[in-house]
Amino acid sequence: MKTSRRAFLDKIAGIGVISMVPALAHSQENNPTDTLKMLSQPYLQNLSSNGVTIMWTTSANCFSWVEYGAGNYTSKRAVAYENGLIQANNRVNKIRLPDLTPGKAHKYRVFSIAIIGYQGSKVLFGETVSSKMMSFTTPPLQEDEIGLVVLNDVHDRPQTIPQLLYRHGYTGSKPDFDFVVFNGDVFDWVSSEQQMIDHLIEPCTEIFASSIPFLLTQGNHECRGSFSRNITQYYDYPENRYYYAFDRGPIRFVVLDSGEDKTDDSVEYGGLSAFDRYREEQARWLEKEVASTAFQQAPFRVVLIHISPYHSGDWHGTLHCRKVFGPILAKAKIDLQLSGHTHRYAVHQADKDHPYPIIIGGGPLEGQRTLIKIQASKKTMEVKMIRDDDEVVGLLSISAKKA
Ligand SMILES: [Fe+2]
Repeated sequence: MKTSRRAFLDKIAGIGVISMVPALAHSQENNPTDTLKMLSQPYLQNLSSNGVTIMWTTSANCFSWVEYGAGNYTSKRAVAYENGLIQANNRVNKIRLPDLTPGKAHKYRVFSIAIIGYQGSKVLFGETVSSKMMSFTTPPLQEDEIGLVVLNDVHDRPQTIPQLLYRHGYTGSKPDFDFVVFNGDVFDWVSSEQQMIDHLIEPCTEIFASSIPFLLTQGNHECRGSFSRNITQYYDYPENRYYYAFDRGPIRFVVLDSGEDKTDDSVEYGGLSAFDRYREEQARWLEKEVASTAFQQAPFRVVLIHISPYHSGDWHGTLHCRKVFGPILAKAKIDLQLSGHTHRYAVHQADKDHPYPIIIGGGPLEGQRTLIKIQASKKTMEVKMIRDDDEVVGLLSISAKKA
């Protein structure tokens, strides 16, 4: 959908920071505008009661913004800026909508106008593209219940996403989830933006991601390939790193990055891995996290980590995760750990090493894929692992230690 140049002028008048001139001969061409399109529909990241990040990618360099508002109106406008400069002349957009009202439906629409060149300090604009009107709902400040679903080890089989979600993620036409977790190894190795869009972002926007957020934890296969170092540009992680914690409903989620599965000096990594140091750095952060009030006070604590420190073989990645994370997690009153990686689904009950249950999801072949569904209230957390043929292969009911 396109908006007129006049409408655009009216819109940016409110922003008041862009100078526009007619396109002139001999201007420096940045990119052709006759092919301007959105390479992905907008998708939500990092949704909280009072904020959300909207992301999308365009085919050419643009200036982009989001129009949004609670209820039926989209009277507010958000842009990304850094060091005082509004982000422009870029393709991958990561725009935070701040100061949202908790527990409210919001509408939004994204816009991108091509930047076809610069003439001195002046910007030359081209065509505009925009999305349809989309909507999402912010969680209330007191979110008593939460539902989520977890997929893992999709391994470049994007059809798995609609198949598992449509078969098992809905009750009627209503999604059973408030967000979706991809617990690592969505890809075999990551070579291009197109792969990222075709194999994760688009399958998600086609089903839910313009109104419901998802998160991708880093699996060992996300560490591989020529585009692996670009992955975080396409998602919004707190502090731009793969390990962090957040609250949704009664659950404190702790996301850890298990890194690669082999030693850093393995010939496959070409001397470009530092996962031992990285896991040790995470362990220092984890010590602080488990001592935090948010963690201690949460009715439930769930760990998301691609390679489980236990029951995942004896390669270096598993053993090093066990060494650096194991003792901290063992003392931390964890309620549940969710992992993937082995491709063999299993429920491992609490034992002396890990005094909390560990669920490992299956994949990536048909007949071995699983969807893990969690429904939590302040008192109980119901966990169900469903195989793709509808067989329930894991079932846990966990009571809150603290409500
Ligand atoms: Fe893996």
